[in-house]
Formats: sequence, C-alpha cells, structure tokens
Amino acid sequence: MSKAIHTELRLAQRMSRLGTETAFEVLAKARALEAKGRDIVHLEIGEPDFDTPANIVEAAVDALHHGYTHYGPSAGMPELRKAIADDVAASRRTSVTPEEVVVVPGGKPIIFYTMLSLIDEGDEVIYPNPGFPIYESMIQFLGGKAVPIQLREERDFRLDTAELKRLITDRTKLIILNSPQNPTGGVMTREDIAEIARMLEGRDIMVLSDEIYSRLIFEGEHHSLFSYDDLRDRIILLDGFSKTYAMTGWRMGYGVMRPELAQQMARLMTNSNSCTASFTQRAGIEAIQGPQDSVDAMNAEFKRRRDYFAERINSIKGFSCKVPKGAFYMFPNITGTGWKSKPLADALLEDAGVAALSGTSFGAFGEGYLRFSIANSLDNIRKALDRVEEWAKKNL
Ligand SMILES: Cc1ncc(COP(=O)(O)O)c(C=O)c1O
Repeated sequence: MSKAIHTELRLAQRMSRLGTETAFEVLAKARALEAKGRDIVHLEIGEPDFDTPANIVEAAVDALHHGYTHYGPSAGMPELRKAIADDVAASRRTSVTPEEVVVVPGGKPIIFYTMLSLIDEGDEVIYPNPGFPIYESMIQFLGGKAVPIQLREERDFRLDTAELKRLITDRTKLIILNSPQNPTGGVMTREDIAEIARMLEGRDIMVLSDEIYSRLIFEGEHHSLFSYDDLRDRIILLDGFSKTYAMTGWRMGYGVMRPELAQQMARLMTNSNSCTASFTQRAGIEAIQGPQDSVDAMNAEFKRRRDYFAERINSIKGFSCKVPKGAFYMFPNITGTGWKSKPLADALLEDAGVAALSGTSFGAFGEGYLRFSIANSLDNIRKALDRVEEWAKKNL
C-alpha cells in the first residue's frame, strides 16, 4: 500500500553537494541485467573475493560467546588500540602510542571525520584525481574547495611533487595522499615521500595519508609519510582491515594521529556510531596478532591475476595498460578505442556482460581509462577478457 505524500521533501542544501561511489550503481545495474537472465562478470567492485581467514572468523564467534556484545569505548577497545599502535609502529618504523589510535567502522569514517574535524568553508583540500570518489564528495559536502592534482600515466600515476608544490596556497588546509592508489595502482616511491616531507617543513598543512592498501604491494616496499617523526603532528594515517584481511563487510578501520585530534574523532564517534562493534574488534586483534600467511597467499594470487590481466589486455586492440605496483585494480588507457570512458563501460556491460567502471567515476582526469577490479577469480578474469577481446574485434 502506498502512503499519501502531502509535503515536499525539503532536504538540507548540503545534500545537493554530496557525491557517491559509482561502483555501487554499476553493481545495481549489473544485478538488474542478471535478474533478466544475463551472465555478467563482476569486475566493478573493489573487494577481495576471498573469505575472511578462518582464525579471524573463529575469534569473532568466540567473542560473541564470551559476551562481547555490549557498547565499548568510542575510540576503540584499549587492547585493539594497543595492537594497532604496535603494528603501525613496526610497519612504519616509528613509535606509536594507543592514545593516537581511533578505531572506526571501516576506513571511510576516517576520511569523513578528518574533514569534519578540520575543514571550514572555503578551506582548500588537495586530493588525487583520478582518485577515490569519496574525497571529492566529502570536500564539497563540507563546503571546502576541492583542488585536484592530476595523476598521470606517464609518471606511473604517481603524483608530481612539483605540481603539488604549485597547488599549495595560503588556504590549503589538507592534502590527501593515497598509496597504493585506487583506481590506478600507482605507488609512491621513497623519493616522492621524502620530497613531500621537505615541502611540508615549516608549513601548517595537515595530511591525510590513505594507506588502506599498504599491504598490497607487488614490487618494492610501502613508503609512508608517517615514518617522518618531525611531521607526525600533521599526519593522519588511515589504514584498516577491509582489504588486507578480506573483511570489507565487517566494517572496521582505524586512524592514527596526534592524541588531541584522536579525542576529537572519538567525540565524532560518540555522536554518530557510539563505537565499533565489540566482537568485531576482538577479531581485529586476532587479525593483527595471528598468522599472516593468508595475507601472503591472497597477495600472491592478486599478483598472478595482475600479470595475466596485463598481458591479455595489452594484446586487445585499442587498450593499453601499465602494470600496477600495488592494490588490486587495472586501469587501462582506452583512448585507442576511439570511445569515451563512460559509453565504453556501458557498452561492455550491456553488450559483452563485463562490469567495469568508467575512469570518470574517479574524477574528470579519469577520462580515457576504465577500471577493472582483479578481486575476482582467474577463471572469471579470463572469461571477462575473452569477452572484451571479442567485443573489440566486432566493434573496433
Ligand atoms: C582508497 C580507499 N580508501 C578507503 C576505502 C574505504 O575502505 P573501507 O571499506 O574500509 O571503508 C577504500 C575502499 O574502497 C579505498 O579504495
């Protein structure tokens, strides 16, 4: 039974400035095609296809049986904050105290809370483009000025530090870095980070370093601005469990930052979520402190898929693809097809049954590219590439 509507819905003005993540829209479209009987290969969503490792699941079940079903502290359980502090200290070769750690439901809330805590109307925020669409969405939602820095293929999608320097003004409040990067798989080098560290000396600019893919590195090492002790008062590190431990649906991530800011983020938690689920946090301790061989096995499999995908896509007419050094996305250049990104993504979904994302889902500088997630089995990736190849033969 439909309810009568007598009033106009008067949304707050800011809602018109809120963006979204197109991956979820493409997924809905693909599901609608499946409901009509079509077979679709899903390469649109960025989540590991693996199950959460059994030891982590067991820890959560055990926690439920032991009564971890109540509210906990807004900043996270002390034991988990300590485990994260020790883990981050080891991986970033620095020292970290539990007071600097805030546990939240996923990596995303750290993006939101960072901006809610720091950005006033008109403040400038520099962010990667193409990049995770939530950055731009949140900047605009809060009335900040979104200042994109273009990531270029010829630089392997690493940001140009000279360009970053030029974009900094007196109004720059926050710089967002993301390495390994979504959607390009670009990874910042030790020199890039050192250059940015030098640039920040003596400047009162905060940096959100989104390192959610820090463990997904195929070549070389992960380098982080967080390792620079002199800059620690200005850095907010974002990392989490979703990608590393195949825990996207558990909703757990964290931020590491100066303690006064951590307290402010905990206040935002109190006002919005109260706390991250208690039994989930117990599983988080096991994820960090338990065996890491499943992480290594997942990464080895992602690397196999990456190599296979790169070789195949580079043999298809109109497509050319750099081999990404991290994360689990392929970002081929499609300008050789003569198609624009969005119509090409639509055509591949509708005609070939392959769901991928238009590069423009990640900002205007994503034009000329598509993003394929390789968080799907090698069999499905093979099927998708067979279909793209056939489509290209017929249509290009
Ligand atoms: C760059 C980046 N940051 C943050 C997130 C959010 O991760 P979570 O699912 O833990 O909120 C994602 C997820 O796709 C991401 O790609």
